[in-house]
Amino acid sequence: MIVTTAELFRCAYGKYAIGAYNINNMEQTLGLFRGCAQAEAPFIIQISRGARKYADKRMLEAMIRAAESIYPESIFAVHLDHGDEETCYDCIDSGFYSSVMIDASHHPFEENVAITRRVVERAHAKGVSVESELGMLGGVEEDIKIDEGHACLTDAEQAKEFVAQTGCDSLACAVGTSHGAYKFKGKQSIHFDVLEAIFKRLPGFPLVMHGSSSVPQEEVRRINTAGGKLDPSACGVDENEYLPAAKLGVTKINIDTDGRLVWMRVHREYLRDHPEDFDFRGAGRVYMAEYANFIAHKSEKLGCAKQL
Ligand code: G3H
Ligand code: 13P
Ligand code: NA
Ligand code: ZN
Repeated sequence: MIVTTAELFRCAYGKYAIGAYNINNMEQTLGLFRGCAQAEAPFIIQISRGARKYADKRMLEAMIRAAESIYPESIFAVHLDHGDEETCYDCIDSGFYSSVMIDASHHPFEENVAITRRVVERAHAKGVSVESELGMLGGVEEDIKIDEGHACLTDAEQAKEFVAQTGCDSLACAVGTSHGAYKFKGKQSIHFDVLEAIFKRLPGFPLVMHGSSSVPQEEVRRINTAGGKLDPSACGVDENEYLPAAKLGVTKINIDTDGRLVWMRVHREYLRDHPEDFDFRGAGRVYMAEYANFIAHKSEKLGCAKQL
């Protein structure tokens, strides 16, 4: 059943985080629903502008509705990931989305406020909630690449101001994570001091953590052993930090890269090990099962397993 993002946040706040996973195709969609059914976990399906271009927004909606009827126990919200203003309006008007993210964080503060306010107004009129972003994560998202030197962590006082001025429903904060497979070097991790400062200024307000894949070393090693060329120094967020972040108001945790790594590992290994095969469903079956297990595992780490 599709529920509002607000309802998922009300149940989770301060206790656990809801995993937000991107989908682009049928295998990801079925694997996600199956994994959440296994874990008895609520979840958020994220659709990026890239996904809407790749699979067509109508195909994505139809797949989600079909998966919903295959998994009638599922409880989830549908969310636009990293929207611009135009795409936010398209999603709000569609009546299908539970929430949208307006990502205007690369604009100066006042402009970010103005754009976000406009989206909030249109969204709230239709009962859709809005995630906005303040501060800048490193890495690549959509067509914007932010190098490490230009990433900037969210200022707690500004965050409070931003929420008051925009009326947004949740806030994506930059607390040291970044998109993609190369987040940290050595012992770096989430800046819990920054997160705690934001949590203290905005008690009760749902925070969102982007760039939260853990980039398992073993996954990277297997991909490379099967012919991949990922930088072996790639590393991500420690999964054991999801719950401590949730206790500090992080209610939605975005994970996409880790799922891409599962796909890459399964397909590289499958093709290596089955050179005679030309039925692509063999690899697809393995992938859906592996992706479901991955999602169930993440749900445990996020604390949202057995929360249906
Ligand atoms: O933040 C970006 C997400 O990983 C979605 O990626 O824009 O390539 O679909 P995408
Ligand atoms: P990862 O690249 O760490 O999976 O982050 C995904 C994300 O933030 C989507 O919005
Ligand atoms: Na951004
Ligand atoms: Zn993101």
